[in-house]
Amino acid sequence: MLLFIDYEKTIIKKNPASFVPNKKIPIYNWFYYKEGFSRDLVIDLIKKFNIKKNQIILDPFCGSGTTLVASRETGINSIGFDVLDIAFFASVVKTRDYSNVLDELKKTLQEIKNTPKKKEKIRIKEKIILKAFPDRILSELLYLKQNIKKIKNKIIRDFFLLCLINTSTKTTLAIKDGGCIKIDKSRHLPPVKYMFVKLAKKMINDIDCTRFGKAETQVFKKDTRIFRLKENSIDCVITSPPYLNKIEYANVYFIEEYLFLKKKLHSSLRSFIGKNYEKISEKMKNENLKDLLDDFIGKPNESIIVAYFIDIFKSLENMYFCLKKNKYCAIVIGGGCFDFGVVQTDVIVSKIAEIIGFKIMEIMPLRKIICTKNRTKKIGVVNESLLILKKN
Ligand SMILES: C[S@@+](CC[C@H](N)C(=O)[O-])C[C@H]1O[C@@H](n2cnc3c(N)ncnc32)[C@H](O)[C@@H]1O
Repeated sequence: MLLFIDYEKTIIKKNPASFVPNKKIPIYNWFYYKEGFSRDLVIDLIKKFNIKKNQIILDPFCGSGTTLVASRETGINSIGFDVLDIAFFASVVKTRDYSNVLDELKKTLQEIKNTPKKKEKIRIKEKIILKAFPDRILSELLYLKQNIKKIKNKIIRDFFLLCLINTSTKTTLAIKDGGCIKIDKSRHLPPVKYMFVKLAKKMINDIDCTRFGKAETQVFKKDTRIFRLKENSIDCVITSPPYLNKIEYANVYFIEEYLFLKKKLHSSLRSFIGKNYEKISEKMKNENLKDLLDDFIGKPNESIIVAYFIDIFKSLENMYFCLKKNKYCAIVIGGGCFDFGVVQTDVIVSKIAEIIGFKIMEIMPLRKIICTKNRTKKIGVVNESLLILKKN
C-alpha cells in the first residue's frame, strides 16, 4: 500500500481536514466556510499525485472553493460543483482573475467610502434575520448592498458583495453552532462601514500580493449526484462530501443567502446529500450495494443513513465515469453520530468505491471525532479520514 502523506505525525498539531489554517491565508479566507478543508492538504495531494499544469482537477463538492483556489495557485485547471448558492458564489469570486480590474476595484472602494451614510428602510419579515442584527446594523448592511447592486461591472459587483457578506458575518449576533444558528446578544459588534472598508482593503491587497499561475477555473451550480462530465476527461478528484448527519448547510447559511443572494430557505433543512429517501428496494439496482446497506434496514435512522449512502454511490459513480484510467481520487470524509450509535462512514464509502470499480489505495485517519448525546453522554468514536482511490 502506498503511503501518500505522513499526516500521522502532524494530526494532533494541525488537522488537514479543517478550514481553520485557511483563516490566515489570503484569498482562501475571503469567506469562512466552517465545513472546508485546508489549502495545505490540497497542495500536498497535487504534489503527491504529480498533477501537471495542463491537467484538470475536479472538486464535485467544492464548497468555498479550497481545491479550486489551490489549483489556481499551482497553475492547474479545475472544475467545481456545488448546490448551495453561497458556496457557488464564494468559489466563483475567489477564483476570478482580477489583474485587469485592480485599479477599478480601488476606485470603486473609494467611491463606496465616500458615499454619505444613509439609512435603508428594513422591509424584512424573517424573524431570524431581525434577531441576528440590531436595526442600525441591518439598515447599514442593506444600504451598502443597494450601493453595490448599482455597480455595472459584474466582476467588481460580485467582489464587493462577497466582501459585504463577509462583513455581515462579523457584524452579527448570530453564531453558527453545529447544525443551527444561535443568537449571542453579548457579542461586541464593530461598525459596519469600518469593517467593510477594512475587509475590502485586505481583499484588494491580497490580489496585489498574490501571483497565481495561469489556469482556468470553472464553477457550476450543479448536483453531483446527477451531473456528469465527459468520460475519462479528469486527471484527479480532490473533494469532501457532506458528512453523514452532520451539517445542515442550507440552514446554517440561510442568513447570508437570504440577505445577499435573495434565496428562500431550501425546502428541506437536511444537507443535499441524503435528502431524498426512496425505498431501498425500489431504488437500489446494485445487488452489492443492497447487501452493504442491509445492516441498516429496520434500524433507527434507516432513512437518513440509507439515503446518504445511495447518494454517495451516485456521486462516486459520476466521479469514476469522468476520471481518467490510473488516476486518483482523494476524499475527506467523517463518520456519522446518532443517538443509537456511530456509523464508520470511511469504511462503508470505501466499500462502495470498490463496488463501483475503484481500487482502495489508502484509508488514512486524520482525526477522531467523539460522538455525544446531548453534548454530555459519550456514544462512540468515529474517524475523519482521507480515502485515496484509484480508477483501474
Ligand atoms: C464538506 S463541504 C466541502 C467544503 C470544501 N472542501 C471547502 O474546502 O470549502 C461539502 C459541500 O458539498 C455541497 N453539496 C452537498 N450536496 C451536494 C450535491 N448533491 N451536489 C453538489 N454539492 C453538494 C455542500 O453545499 C457543501 O458546500
